[in-house]
Amino acid sequence: MKTETVIITDVGPRDGLQNQPKILTTEERLMLIRAIAEAGVPQIEVGSFVSPRAVPAMAGTDQVFAGLSDQANADVLSLALIPNMKGYQLARDAGAKMVTMVLYASDGMAQKNAAMSMADAEAVTLDIIDCARRDGIAVTATVAVVFECPFDGPTDPAVVEDIVARFVGHADQVVLADTIGAAHPQQVRELTASLVKQHGSDKLGCHFHDTRAMGLANVYAALESGIRRFDSSIAGLGGCPFAPGASGNVSTDDVAMMLAQMGFETGIDLNKLMLASDLAAQLTGTAPGGRAKPWLQRYLLKAA
Ligand code: COA
Ligand code: ZN
Repeated sequence: MKTETVIITDVGPRDGLQNQPKILTTEERLMLIRAIAEAGVPQIEVGSFVSPRAVPAMAGTDQVFAGLSDQANADVLSLALIPNMKGYQLARDAGAKMVTMVLYASDGMAQKNAAMSMADAEAVTLDIIDCARRDGIAVTATVAVVFECPFDGPTDPAVVEDIVARFVGHADQVVLADTIGAAHPQQVRELTASLVKQHGSDKLGCHFHDTRAMGLANVYAALESGIRRFDSSIAGLGGCPFAPGASGNVSTDDVAMMLAQMGFETGIDLNKLMLASDLAAQLTGTAPGGRAKPWLQRYLLKAA
């Protein structure tokens, strides 16, 4: 049987670190990114180009990119999250090869996160995609609050379907983000199955938070629909400072372990991933989220 590949993007150095009480130095951020890359994670969201007043932990992401430009890190696909055109220009100037621009399935979240309407964010994203095509930069459009918004309540799936239909032909990837971790697996299965049926799975991805311990179940539901791209965060670090109730992302530790046991290829070395997970906990001083580590350390890795 042919082994199927799943592409994991570790968003810990961005989604994770932006929400920690402790702000890491550039060198600490680089240590974490290098450890995740060393474990074989193919894509890493290494930071964001946002207002440093809004998210102090992400100030200096240009220096992070500079620190990653040496040969040893050439194989890592480093992405940066951006909220607007200014962010795009800063990411381009820093040497990003892929950017994640945020779209919104609710106006409440668009206003709180980017001081825009949903429609403004879509218009800016189309402009950014035009510029990026000329600059040779790939664009992921991540749709925030696809299941529920902390300000506007439950999201109508039809709104998400319309946004995806408008962007799947333009962006290199479209990621469905459960920003506050409000989704349950049945909803995920229904929405992702419908989108995969309409657009195929090549360009679609999912981004889950583990707020209510449903992160892994939601990954599984999306996998069953054919989704093969997932965002997750080393040691389950994460949250969104602008979305009340959001907690850590589903942990890369758990997702990589589940996929490995189910026979999917991710390119990740679980031994080295545990080292990155330990480092994430040590640098941030946060108890790691996710459940895989003790089990992996006790049974699987010993047997290897
Ligand atoms: N990067 C760095 N600085 C930026 C910026 C960007 N992408 N976009 C705007 N700014 C600066 C402006 O230059 C301005 O600086 P000044 O006061 O020194 O002149 C300041 O931020 C305010 O700009 P303004 O356009 O008035 O924006 P705002 O105050 O309405 O804030 C955002 C809008 C989007 C810039 C801000 O809310 C933000 O960066 N949010 C981060 C969102 C985020 O990271 N969310 C988590 C991930 S989903
Ligand atoms: Zn997130």
